[in-house]
Amino acid sequence: HRRNSTREQLRTHRLIKQLPRAIIIGVRKGGTRALLEMLSLHPAVVKASQEVHFFDNDKNYDRGVDWYLKKMPLSFLHQITIEKSPAYFITEEVPERIFKMNSSIKLLLIVREPTTRTVSDYTQVLEGKEHKNKTYNKFEELVIDTSTCEVNTKYKAVRTSIYTKYLEHWLKFFPIEQFHIVDGDRLITDPLPELKLVEQFLNLPSRISQYNLYFNATRGFFCLRFNFMFSKCLAGSKGRIHPDVNPSIQEKLQRFFHPFNQKFYQITGRTFNWP
Ligand code: A3P
Repeated sequence: HRRNSTREQLRTHRLIKQLPRAIIIGVRKGGTRALLEMLSLHPAVVKASQEVHFFDNDKNYDRGVDWYLKKMPLSFLHQITIEKSPAYFITEEVPERIFKMNSSIKLLLIVREPTTRTVSDYTQVLEGKEHKNKTYNKFEELVIDTSTCEVNTKYKAVRTSIYTKYLEHWLKFFPIEQFHIVDGDRLITDPLPELKLVEQFLNLPSRISQYNLYFNATRGFFCLRFNFMFSKCLAGSKGRIHPDVNPSIQEKLQRFFHPFNQKFYQITGRTFNWP
């Protein structure tokens, strides 16, 4: 009997690869990297460091679930694996594909005030273009349709901020109870309460504490302390300076998003102080 239990112990202490039991599905620029890194402060959470893009990329998806599993980090049996690929939220095929793999998976969606998210998205795309001799449209020129003077819903950075539109599609496959909405604006200013809510949602004991998070004034953000030896801040590409936006355009965007936000609050049961 003793030999059996030793074997059992060995088995449970072995490192294995496990499919994610929770996925951060988006939203792009919501704070998906910060959320993943902060959750990995928890001893029972193991993260896939890179975005895997299994469900949104047809070529990857065709490689099958074994390929997906191979992309996962090593973990102990009692730990849960989490990955984040923000494109999942807005890619039509994804919810059905995830459902086919695991219909009871937990889904984390981190959102920010939609106008801020739009500016953040614009800023990221702008920085991605390195060719100096090319000129880039100003934010205002992209978000407003010049012929109608209305908000340009063809611009992807605007569309991605209409959260309810995408969430409603997800709800054709998963009940709302399987989602947890994270307040990305609060994750920036006061991360711990948001992380505690996620711990609860994932049925994990509360283990992330104030000790694990310290505000770094130079960085202007919270950074992570794993133990007395190891701390880190997120990369410099997280927390970019946003361009100033013409106040009337900003207001126009806020007014545009308002009804969609109301719908989003209604569906999720979580209300934000968005304008
Ligand atoms: P900005 O660059 O607009 O400030 P994502 O990882 O989904 O691309 O989100 C990036 C956003 O995460 C950043 O947007 C930043 O504001 C936010 N963020 C939240 N917590 C952060 C932290 N502790 N350090 C750096 N960025 C953080």
